[in-house]
Amino acid sequence: MLNIVIMAAGKGTRMKSELPKALHRLAGRSLLQHVLDTAAALGADRIIVVTGHSAEAVESAVAAPHLEFVRQMPQLGTGHAVRVAAPRLLDGGTTLILNGDVPLIRADTARRLIDASGGDRLALLTVDLPDPTGYGRVVRDGDNVLAIVEEKDATAAQRAIREVYTGMMAAPTAALRRWLGQLTNANAQREYYLTDVVAHAAADRVPVVAAQAASETEVLGVNSPLQLAELERRYQRARADSLMEAGVRLADPARLDVRGELMCGSDVEIDVNCVFEGRVELGDGARISANCVIRNAVIEAGALIRPFTHMDGGDVGIRIGAGAEVGPFARLRPGARLGPEVHIGNFVEVKNSTLGRGAKANHLAYLGDATLGERVNYGAGSITANYDGANKHPTVIGADAHIGSNCVLVAPVTIGEGATIGGGSTITREAPAGQLTLARAKQVSIAKWKRPVKVKQK
Ligand code: UD1
Ligand code: MG
Repeated sequence: MLNIVIMAAGKGTRMKSELPKALHRLAGRSLLQHVLDTAAALGADRIIVVTGHSAEAVESAVAAPHLEFVRQMPQLGTGHAVRVAAPRLLDGGTTLILNGDVPLIRADTARRLIDASGGDRLALLTVDLPDPTGYGRVVRDGDNVLAIVEEKDATAAQRAIREVYTGMMAAPTAALRRWLGQLTNANAQREYYLTDVVAHAAADRVPVVAAQAASETEVLGVNSPLQLAELERRYQRARADSLMEAGVRLADPARLDVRGELMCGSDVEIDVNCVFEGRVELGDGARISANCVIRNAVIEAGALIRPFTHMDGGDVGIRIGAGAEVGPFARLRPGARLGPEVHIGNFVEVKNSTLGRGAKANHLAYLGDATLGERVNYGAGSITANYDGANKHPTVIGADAHIGSNCVLVAPVTIGEGATIGGGSTITREAPAGQLTLARAKQVSIAKWKRPVKVKQK
Protein backbone atom coordinates (compact mmCIF):
# COMPACT_ATOMS: atom_id res chain seq x y z
CA MET A 1 0.00 0.00 0.00
CA LEU A 2 1.52 3.32 -1.06
CA ASN A 3 0.25 6.81 -0.21
CA ILE A 4 1.87 9.88 -1.70
CA VAL A 5 1.41 13.30 -0.13
CA ILE A 6 2.50 16.30 -2.15
CA MET A 7 2.84 19.58 -0.25
CA ALA A 8 1.83 22.57 -2.31
CA ALA A 9 0.08 24.96 0.07
CA GLY A 10 2.84 27.53 0.43
CA LYS A 11 2.63 30.96 -1.13
CA GLY A 12 6.12 31.14 -2.50
CA THR A 13 6.70 34.67 -1.23
CA ARG A 14 10.15 34.89 -2.78
CA MET A 15 8.70 34.35 -6.28
CA LYS A 16 7.21 37.87 -5.87
CA SER A 17 4.34 36.84 -8.12
CA GLU A 18 0.56 36.76 -8.13
CA LEU A 19 0.76 33.23 -9.51
CA PRO A 20 1.06 30.58 -6.79
CA LYS A 21 4.52 29.00 -6.82
CA ALA A 22 3.20 25.54 -7.66
CA LEU A 23 1.89 26.86 -10.98
CA HIS A 24 5.06 28.51 -12.22
CA ARG A 25 6.30 26.68 -15.28
CA LEU A 26 9.42 24.72 -15.95
CA ALA A 27 9.85 23.32 -19.46
CA GLY A 28 6.24 24.19 -20.24
CA ARG A 29 4.70 22.30 -17.32
CA SER A 30 3.86 23.66 -13.89
CA LEU A 31 6.23 22.76 -11.06
CA LEU A 32 3.45 20.82 -9.38
CA GLN A 33 2.57 18.99 -12.60
CA HIS A 34 6.13 17.68 -12.85
CA VAL A 35 5.82 16.20 -9.36
CA LEU A 36 2.35 14.81 -10.11
CA ASP A 37 3.57 13.12 -13.28
CA THR A 38 6.39 11.48 -11.33
CA ALA A 39 3.97 10.46 -8.58
CA ALA A 40 1.65 8.90 -11.15
CA ALA A 41 4.56 6.82 -12.47
CA LEU A 42 5.06 5.32 -8.99
CA GLY A 43 1.70 3.54 -9.05
CA ALA A 44 0.45 4.90 -5.72
CA ASP A 45 -2.84 3.74 -4.25
CA ARG A 46 -3.61 7.28 -3.20
CA ILE A 47 -2.14 10.66 -4.15
CA ILE A 48 -3.08 13.55 -1.90
CA VAL A 49 -2.17 17.10 -2.80
CA VAL A 50 -2.12 19.63 0.04
CA THR A 51 -3.22 23.04 -1.22
CA GLY A 52 -3.74 26.30 0.63
CA HIS A 53 -2.52 29.49 -0.91
CA SER A 54 -4.64 30.11 -4.07
CA ALA A 55 -6.04 26.61 -3.53
CA GLU A 56 -8.77 26.92 -6.16
CA ALA A 57 -6.37 27.99 -8.89
CA VAL A 58 -3.91 25.24 -8.04
CA GLU A 59 -6.58 22.53 -7.85
CA SER A 60 -8.27 23.47 -11.10
CA ALA A 61 -4.93 23.68 -12.92
CA VAL A 62 -3.87 20.14 -12.07
CA ALA A 63 -7.16 18.31 -11.34
CA ALA A 64 -7.23 14.67 -12.44
CA PRO A 65 -9.47 11.74 -11.45
CA HIS A 66 -6.72 9.96 -9.51
CA LEU A 67 -5.91 12.99 -7.30
CA GLU A 68 -7.34 14.04 -3.98
CA PHE A 69 -6.95 17.53 -2.60
CA VAL A 70 -6.95 18.64 1.03
CA ARG A 71 -6.82 22.27 2.02
CA GLN A 72 -4.47 23.53 4.67
CA MET A 73 -5.75 26.85 6.03
CA PRO A 74 -3.82 28.58 7.45
CA GLN A 75 -0.42 27.16 6.54
CA LEU A 76 1.36 26.39 9.78
CA GLY A 77 4.35 24.53 8.40
CA THR A 78 5.27 21.34 6.55
CA GLY A 79 4.40 19.12 9.54
CA HIS A 80 0.97 20.72 9.74
CA ALA A 81 0.54 20.21 5.98
CA VAL A 82 1.04 16.46 6.27
CA ARG A 83 -1.09 16.38 9.40
CA VAL A 84 -4.12 17.76 7.52
CA ALA A 85 -3.59 15.06 4.89
CA ALA A 86 -3.29 12.29 7.50
CA PRO A 87 -7.04 11.43 7.74
CA ARG A 88 -6.99 10.62 4.01
CA LEU A 89 -4.07 8.20 4.20
CA LEU A 90 -4.84 4.56 3.55
CA ASP A 91 -3.81 2.50 6.56
CA GLY A 92 -0.82 0.24 6.44
CA GLY A 93 2.06 0.38 4.02
CA THR A 94 4.21 3.38 3.29
CA THR A 95 3.64 7.09 2.84
CA LEU A 96 5.92 9.03 0.55
CA ILE A 97 6.09 12.80 1.01
CA LEU A 98 7.07 14.96 -1.93
CA ASN A 99 7.50 18.67 -2.28
CA GLY A 100 5.42 20.60 -4.81
CA ASP A 101 8.33 22.94 -5.48
CA VAL A 102 11.00 20.31 -6.19
CA PRO A 103 9.97 19.50 -9.75
CA LEU A 104 12.71 17.27 -11.11
CA ILE A 105 12.61 14.45 -8.60
CA ARG A 106 12.99 11.20 -10.52
CA ALA A 107 10.69 8.21 -10.13
CA ASP A 108 13.59 5.79 -9.62
CA THR A 109 14.97 7.95 -6.80
CA ALA A 110 11.55 8.08 -5.16
CA ARG A 111 11.34 4.31 -5.47
CA ARG A 112 14.74 3.93 -3.79
CA LEU A 113 13.44 6.08 -0.97
CA ILE A 114 10.35 3.89 -0.60
CA ASP A 115 12.56 0.78 -0.62
CA ALA A 116 14.87 2.31 1.99
CA SER A 117 11.85 2.80 4.24
CA GLY A 118 10.98 -0.85 3.70
CA GLY A 119 7.81 -0.71 5.82
CA ASP A 120 9.58 -0.21 9.17
CA ARG A 121 12.12 2.61 8.80
CA LEU A 122 11.95 6.34 8.32
CA ALA A 123 13.86 7.14 5.12
CA LEU A 124 15.00 10.65 4.26
CA LEU A 125 16.22 11.78 0.88
CA THR A 126 19.37 13.79 1.39
CA VAL A 127 22.06 15.32 -0.77
CA ASP A 128 25.47 16.89 -0.19
CA LEU A 129 25.52 20.49 -1.33
CA PRO A 130 28.61 22.67 -1.67
CA ASP A 131 26.45 25.52 -0.37
CA PRO A 132 23.81 24.19 2.07
CA THR A 133 22.42 27.64 2.94
CA GLY A 134 18.69 27.63 3.62
CA TYR A 135 18.28 23.87 3.89
CA GLY A 136 17.65 21.64 6.89
CA ARG A 137 20.93 19.99 7.96
CA VAL A 138 21.17 16.25 8.54
CA VAL A 139 22.68 15.57 11.96
CA ARG A 140 24.16 12.07 12.18
CA ASP A 141 25.92 9.70 14.50
CA GLY A 142 27.61 7.47 11.95
CA ASP A 143 24.93 5.76 9.85
CA ASN A 144 22.19 6.82 12.24
CA VAL A 145 20.35 10.05 11.52
CA LEU A 146 19.56 11.81 14.79
CA ALA A 147 17.77 14.93 13.64
CA ILE A 148 17.18 17.48 10.93
CA VAL A 149 17.88 21.00 12.08
CA GLU A 150 16.46 23.94 10.17
CA GLU A 151 18.92 26.67 9.27
CA LYS A 152 17.19 29.17 11.54
CA ASP A 153 17.46 26.81 14.52
CA ALA A 154 20.96 25.50 13.80
CA THR A 155 24.11 26.10 15.79
CA ALA A 156 27.22 27.34 13.98
CA ALA A 157 28.63 23.79 14.00
CA GLN A 158 25.38 22.39 12.53
CA ARG A 159 25.35 25.05 9.83
CA ALA A 160 28.69 23.73 8.62
CA ILE A 161 27.08 20.35 7.77
CA ARG A 162 26.75 19.98 4.03
CA GLU A 163 24.41 17.01 3.92
CA VAL A 164 20.94 18.49 3.66
CA TYR A 165 17.39 17.20 3.74
CA THR A 166 15.72 17.53 0.33
CA GLY A 167 12.18 17.83 1.69
CA MET A 168 11.26 14.27 0.68
CA MET A 169 10.80 11.30 2.97
CA ALA A 170 9.14 7.88 3.15
CA ALA A 171 7.70 6.47 6.38
CA PRO A 172 5.55 3.62 7.65
CA THR A 173 2.07 5.16 7.56
CA ALA A 174 0.98 4.10 11.07
CA ALA A 175 4.13 5.46 12.71
CA LEU A 176 3.96 8.66 10.68
CA ARG A 177 0.44 9.35 11.97
CA ARG A 178 1.68 8.93 15.52
CA TRP A 179 4.67 11.26 15.06
CA LEU A 180 2.55 13.91 13.34
CA GLY A 181 0.35 14.00 16.42
CA GLN A 182 3.40 14.73 18.56
CA LEU A 183 4.71 17.74 16.60
CA THR A 184 4.90 21.12 18.30
CA ASN A 185 5.81 24.55 16.98
CA ALA A 186 8.45 25.38 19.58
CA ASN A 187 11.06 26.69 17.16
CA ALA A 188 12.40 29.87 15.59
CA GLN A 189 9.67 30.06 12.93
CA ARG A 190 6.71 29.01 15.17
CA GLU A 191 5.90 26.35 12.58
CA TYR A 192 5.11 22.67 12.78
CA TYR A 193 8.17 21.19 11.14
CA LEU A 194 7.75 17.88 9.35
CA THR A 195 11.44 17.38 9.93
CA ASP A 196 10.81 16.97 13.66
CA VAL A 197 9.40 13.49 12.98
CA VAL A 198 13.04 12.39 12.85
CA ALA A 199 13.52 13.06 16.53
CA HIS A 200 10.25 11.26 17.35
CA ALA A 201 11.32 8.26 15.27
CA ALA A 202 14.62 8.17 17.10
CA ALA A 203 12.77 8.30 20.43
CA ASP A 204 10.60 5.36 19.25
CA ARG A 205 13.79 3.47 18.32
CA VAL A 206 12.64 3.36 14.70
CA PRO A 207 15.72 3.38 12.48
CA VAL A 208 16.18 6.57 10.46
CA VAL A 209 18.06 6.01 7.23
CA ALA A 210 19.12 8.32 4.46
CA ALA A 211 18.93 7.65 0.74
CA GLN A 212 21.16 9.88 -1.34
CA ALA A 213 19.80 11.54 -4.44
CA ALA A 214 21.53 10.59 -7.69
CA SER A 215 22.12 14.20 -8.69
CA GLU A 216 21.76 17.63 -7.19
CA THR A 217 19.45 18.74 -10.00
CA GLU A 218 16.63 16.39 -9.06
CA VAL A 219 16.38 17.70 -5.52
CA LEU A 220 16.76 21.43 -6.10
CA GLY A 221 13.76 23.43 -4.96
CA VAL A 222 12.36 26.51 -6.62
CA ASN A 223 11.94 29.50 -4.35
CA SER A 224 12.78 32.46 -6.60
CA PRO A 225 12.74 33.42 -10.28
CA LEU A 226 16.51 33.03 -10.29
CA GLN A 227 16.33 29.45 -9.04
CA LEU A 228 13.54 28.71 -11.50
CA ALA A 229 15.62 29.93 -14.43
CA GLU A 230 18.70 28.05 -13.24
CA LEU A 231 16.74 24.82 -12.90
CA GLU A 232 15.20 25.33 -16.34
CA ARG A 233 18.69 25.58 -17.85
CA ARG A 234 19.88 22.46 -16.03
CA TYR A 235 16.81 20.59 -17.24
CA GLN A 236 17.27 21.79 -20.81
CA ARG A 237 20.95 20.93 -20.78
CA ALA A 238 20.09 17.38 -19.70
CA ARG A 239 17.52 17.11 -22.51
CA ALA A 240 20.07 18.42 -25.00
CA ASP A 241 22.68 15.94 -23.80
CA SER A 242 20.37 12.97 -24.21
CA LEU A 243 19.35 14.14 -27.70
CA MET A 244 23.01 14.41 -28.69
CA GLU A 245 23.75 11.00 -27.18
CA ALA A 246 21.03 9.67 -29.50
CA GLY A 247 22.83 11.25 -32.46
CA VAL A 248 20.96 14.53 -32.89
CA ARG A 249 23.31 17.32 -33.98
CA LEU A 250 22.62 20.48 -32.01
CA ALA A 251 24.41 23.65 -33.08
CA ASP A 252 24.53 24.69 -29.42
CA PRO A 253 23.14 22.59 -26.56
CA ALA A 254 22.78 25.75 -24.46
CA ARG A 255 20.37 27.27 -26.97
CA LEU A 256 17.62 24.67 -27.19
CA ASP A 257 14.30 24.51 -25.37
CA VAL A 258 12.21 21.36 -25.30
CA ARG A 259 8.89 21.90 -23.55
CA GLY A 260 7.32 18.54 -24.10
CA GLU A 261 8.26 15.48 -26.13
CA LEU A 262 10.76 15.65 -28.97
CA MET A 263 11.35 12.47 -30.94
CA CYS A 264 14.13 12.45 -33.51
CA GLY A 265 15.19 10.02 -36.21
CA SER A 266 18.79 9.71 -37.33
CA ASP A 267 20.85 12.59 -38.71
CA VAL A 268 18.56 15.31 -37.44
CA GLU A 269 20.12 18.77 -37.24
CA ILE A 270 18.82 21.59 -35.06
CA ASP A 271 20.29 25.07 -35.24
CA VAL A 272 20.28 27.58 -32.38
CA ASN A 273 17.32 29.06 -30.50
CA CYS A 274 14.66 26.56 -31.45
CA VAL A 275 11.72 25.88 -29.13
CA PHE A 276 9.82 22.59 -29.29
CA GLU A 277 6.49 22.36 -27.51
CA GLY A 278 3.89 19.64 -27.03
CA ARG A 279 4.73 16.58 -29.10
CA VAL A 280 7.11 17.01 -32.02
CA GLU A 281 8.52 14.30 -34.25
CA LEU A 282 11.47 14.91 -36.58
CA GLY A 283 12.13 12.27 -39.22
CA ASP A 284 15.51 11.05 -40.46
CA GLY A 285 17.63 13.85 -41.84
CA ALA A 286 15.16 16.61 -40.97
CA ARG A 287 16.85 19.98 -40.51
CA ILE A 288 15.51 22.77 -38.33
CA SER A 289 17.15 26.13 -38.90
CA ALA A 290 17.68 28.84 -36.32
CA ASN A 291 14.88 30.50 -34.37
CA CYS A 292 12.00 28.17 -35.11
CA VAL A 293 9.13 27.59 -32.69
CA ILE A 294 7.41 24.26 -33.32
CA ARG A 295 4.47 22.83 -31.41
CA ASN A 296 2.57 19.58 -32.01
CA ALA A 297 3.96 18.68 -35.42
CA VAL A 298 5.29 15.73 -37.35
CA ILE A 299 8.10 16.65 -39.73
CA GLU A 300 9.01 13.82 -42.05
CA ALA A 301 12.37 12.67 -43.36
CA GLY A 302 14.61 15.15 -45.11
CA ALA A 303 12.34 18.16 -44.62
CA LEU A 304 14.06 21.51 -44.27
CA ILE A 305 12.56 24.14 -41.99
CA ARG A 306 14.20 27.48 -42.66
CA PRO A 307 14.82 30.20 -40.03
CA PHE A 308 12.09 31.96 -38.06
CA THR A 309 9.33 29.51 -38.92
CA HIS A 310 6.44 29.28 -36.47
CA MET A 311 4.35 26.11 -36.41
CA ASP A 312 1.52 25.55 -33.97
CA GLY A 313 -0.40 22.35 -34.57
CA GLY A 314 -2.84 23.07 -31.71
CA ASP A 315 -5.02 20.05 -30.93
CA VAL A 316 -5.10 18.60 -34.44
CA GLY A 317 -1.42 18.80 -35.33
CA ILE A 318 0.64 19.61 -38.38
CA ARG A 319 2.28 17.23 -40.84
CA ILE A 320 5.19 18.24 -43.05
CA GLY A 321 5.91 15.72 -45.80
CA ALA A 322 9.26 14.22 -46.69
CA GLY A 323 11.63 16.61 -48.41
CA ALA A 324 9.33 19.62 -47.97
CA GLU A 325 10.86 23.07 -47.50
CA VAL A 326 9.24 25.61 -45.24
CA GLY A 327 10.21 29.19 -44.43
CA PRO A 328 11.98 31.42 -43.74
CA PHE A 329 9.26 33.33 -41.86
CA ALA A 330 6.45 30.86 -42.51
CA ARG A 331 3.47 30.40 -40.24
CA LEU A 332 1.76 27.03 -40.07
CA ARG A 333 -1.36 26.62 -37.97
CA PRO A 334 -3.49 23.67 -36.83
CA GLY A 335 -4.34 21.21 -39.57
CA ALA A 336 -1.63 22.28 -42.02
CA ARG A 337 -0.81 19.08 -43.92
CA LEU A 338 1.94 19.43 -46.46
CA GLY A 339 2.67 16.56 -48.84
CA PRO A 340 6.16 15.50 -49.87
CA GLU A 341 8.34 18.16 -51.48
CA VAL A 342 5.89 20.98 -50.89
CA HIS A 343 7.47 24.43 -50.71
CA ILE A 344 6.12 27.09 -48.37
CA GLY A 345 8.00 30.36 -48.50
CA ASN A 346 8.31 33.60 -46.58
CA PHE A 347 5.24 35.22 -45.03
CA VAL A 348 2.94 32.39 -46.04
CA GLU A 349 0.26 31.29 -43.58
CA VAL A 350 -1.35 27.87 -43.84
CA LYS A 351 -4.29 26.77 -41.69
CA ASN A 352 -6.38 23.59 -41.94
CA SER A 353 -5.22 22.96 -45.49
CA THR A 354 -3.84 19.98 -47.37
CA LEU A 355 -1.23 20.47 -50.07
CA GLY A 356 -0.44 17.67 -52.52
CA ARG A 357 3.05 16.55 -53.48
CA GLY A 358 5.21 19.30 -54.90
CA ALA A 359 2.67 22.11 -54.45
CA LYS A 360 4.23 25.54 -53.90
CA ALA A 361 3.18 28.75 -52.18
CA ASN A 362 6.37 30.70 -52.00
CA HIS A 363 5.55 34.29 -51.09
CA LEU A 364 3.09 36.34 -49.00
CA ALA A 365 0.04 34.08 -49.21
CA TYR A 366 -2.82 32.69 -47.12
CA LEU A 367 -4.29 29.22 -47.42
CA GLY A 368 -7.18 28.45 -45.06
CA ASP A 369 -9.57 25.48 -45.32
CA ALA A 370 -8.08 24.65 -48.72
CA THR A 371 -7.15 21.46 -50.54
CA LEU A 372 -4.45 21.76 -53.19
CA GLY A 373 -3.66 18.98 -55.63
CA GLU A 374 -0.16 17.97 -56.65
CA ARG A 375 2.14 20.58 -58.18
CA VAL A 376 -0.28 23.50 -57.72
CA ASN A 377 1.55 26.80 -57.94
CA TYR A 378 -0.05 29.37 -55.67
CA GLY A 379 1.09 32.89 -56.55
CA ALA A 380 2.51 35.64 -54.42
CA GLY A 381 -0.03 37.63 -52.46
CA SER A 382 -2.94 35.30 -53.15
CA ILE A 383 -5.40 34.38 -50.45
CA THR A 384 -8.36 32.16 -49.79
CA ALA A 385 -11.25 34.28 -48.50
CA ASN A 386 -12.49 31.37 -46.41
CA TYR A 387 -14.56 33.24 -43.84
CA ASP A 388 -17.77 35.09 -44.70
CA GLY A 389 -18.05 36.71 -41.30
CA ALA A 390 -20.09 33.85 -39.89
CA ASN A 391 -18.87 30.56 -41.36
CA LYS A 392 -15.76 29.00 -42.87
CA HIS A 393 -15.89 27.57 -46.38
CA PRO A 394 -13.61 25.28 -48.39
CA THR A 395 -11.48 26.01 -51.43
CA VAL A 396 -10.48 23.13 -53.70
CA ILE A 397 -7.68 23.57 -56.25
CA GLY A 398 -7.02 20.74 -58.69
CA ALA A 399 -3.61 19.34 -59.55
CA ASP A 400 -1.32 21.45 -61.73
CA ALA A 401 -3.46 24.56 -61.39
CA HIS A 402 -1.61 27.86 -61.46
CA ILE A 403 -2.96 30.68 -59.33
CA GLY A 404 -1.47 34.01 -60.41
CA SER A 405 -0.33 36.71 -58.02
CA ASN A 406 -2.66 38.70 -55.81
CA CYS A 407 -5.78 36.58 -56.36
CA VAL A 408 -8.70 36.33 -53.96
CA LEU A 409 -10.40 32.93 -54.03
CA VAL A 410 -13.79 33.54 -52.42
CA ALA A 411 -14.85 30.27 -50.78
CA PRO A 412 -16.65 27.99 -51.30
CA VAL A 413 -14.98 27.72 -54.67
CA THR A 414 -13.35 25.12 -56.90
CA ILE A 415 -10.49 25.60 -59.34
CA GLY A 416 -10.26 22.76 -61.87
CA GLU A 417 -7.17 20.72 -62.66
CA GLY A 418 -4.63 22.53 -64.74
CA ALA A 419 -6.61 25.78 -64.61
CA THR A 420 -4.78 29.11 -64.71
CA ILE A 421 -6.08 32.10 -62.79
CA GLY A 422 -4.87 35.44 -64.07
CA GLY A 423 -3.11 37.66 -61.54
CA GLY A 424 -5.28 40.06 -59.60
CA SER A 425 -8.48 38.04 -60.08
CA THR A 426 -11.22 37.78 -57.52
CA ILE A 427 -12.71 34.35 -58.14
CA THR A 428 -16.24 33.73 -56.89
CA ARG A 429 -17.38 30.88 -59.15
CA GLU A 430 -15.88 27.60 -60.31
CA ALA A 431 -12.92 28.02 -62.66
CA PRO A 432 -12.98 25.22 -65.24
CA ALA A 433 -10.11 22.77 -65.68
CA GLY A 434 -7.48 23.59 -68.23
CA GLN A 435 -8.73 27.13 -68.99
CA LEU A 436 -7.48 30.61 -68.22
CA THR A 437 -9.91 32.41 -65.95
CA LEU A 438 -9.70 36.14 -65.30
CA ALA A 439 -11.94 38.19 -63.06
CA ARG A 440 -10.69 41.74 -63.04
CA ALA A 441 -11.31 44.99 -64.91
CA LYS A 442 -10.04 44.89 -68.44
CA GLN A 443 -6.90 47.00 -69.01
CA VAL A 444 -7.51 50.18 -71.01
CA SER A 445 -5.09 52.84 -72.26
CA ILE A 446 -6.22 56.44 -73.04
CA ALA A 447 -3.93 57.80 -75.71
CA LYS A 448 -4.83 61.53 -75.56
CA TRP A 449 -5.02 61.78 -71.78
CA LYS A 450 -3.09 64.76 -70.36
CA ARG A 451 -1.68 65.08 -66.89
CA PRO A 452 -3.07 68.04 -64.93
CA VAL A 453 -0.69 71.01 -64.94
CA LYS A 454 0.00 72.98 -61.79
CA VAL A 455 -1.73 76.38 -61.77
CA LYS A 456 0.79 79.23 -61.23
CA GLN A 457 0.10 81.49 -58.21
CA LYS A 458 0.32 85.22 -58.90
C1 UD1 B 1 11.86 22.41 3.88
C2 UD1 B 1 12.47 21.57 5.03
C3 UD1 B 1 13.97 21.67 4.96
C4 UD1 B 1 14.47 21.23 3.61
C5 UD1 B 1 13.78 22.00 2.50
C6 UD1 B 1 14.12 21.41 1.17
C7 UD1 B 1 10.85 21.68 6.82
C8 UD1 B 1 10.55 22.23 8.16
N1 UD1 B 1 11.99 22.07 6.29
O1 UD1 B 1 12.20 23.76 4.16
O2 UD1 B 1 14.54 20.86 5.97
O3 UD1 B 1 15.87 21.37 3.53
O4 UD1 B 1 12.35 21.95 2.63
O5 UD1 B 1 13.61 22.20 0.12
O6 UD1 B 1 10.09 20.88 6.31
N2 UD1 B 1 4.22 23.84 2.52
C9 UD1 B 1 2.89 23.58 2.78
N3 UD1 B 1 2.34 24.07 3.92
C10 UD1 B 1 3.05 24.78 4.83
C11 UD1 B 1 4.40 25.05 4.56
C12 UD1 B 1 4.97 24.55 3.40
O7 UD1 B 1 2.22 22.94 1.98
O8 UD1 B 1 2.47 25.17 5.85
C13 UD1 B 1 4.80 23.32 1.27
C14 UD1 B 1 5.34 24.42 0.38
O9 UD1 B 1 4.34 24.82 -0.55
C15 UD1 B 1 6.49 23.70 -0.33
C16 UD1 B 1 6.95 22.68 0.70
O10 UD1 B 1 5.89 22.51 1.61
O11 UD1 B 1 6.05 23.02 -1.49
C17 UD1 B 1 8.22 23.10 1.42
O12 UD1 B 1 7.97 24.30 2.10
P1 UD1 B 1 9.05 25.42 2.25
O13 UD1 B 1 8.47 26.55 2.99
O14 UD1 B 1 9.67 25.71 0.94
O15 UD1 B 1 10.10 24.68 3.21
P2 UD1 B 1 11.60 25.05 3.36
O16 UD1 B 1 11.72 26.21 4.25
O17 UD1 B 1 12.22 25.13 2.02
MG1 MG C 1 11.46 25.38 -0.08
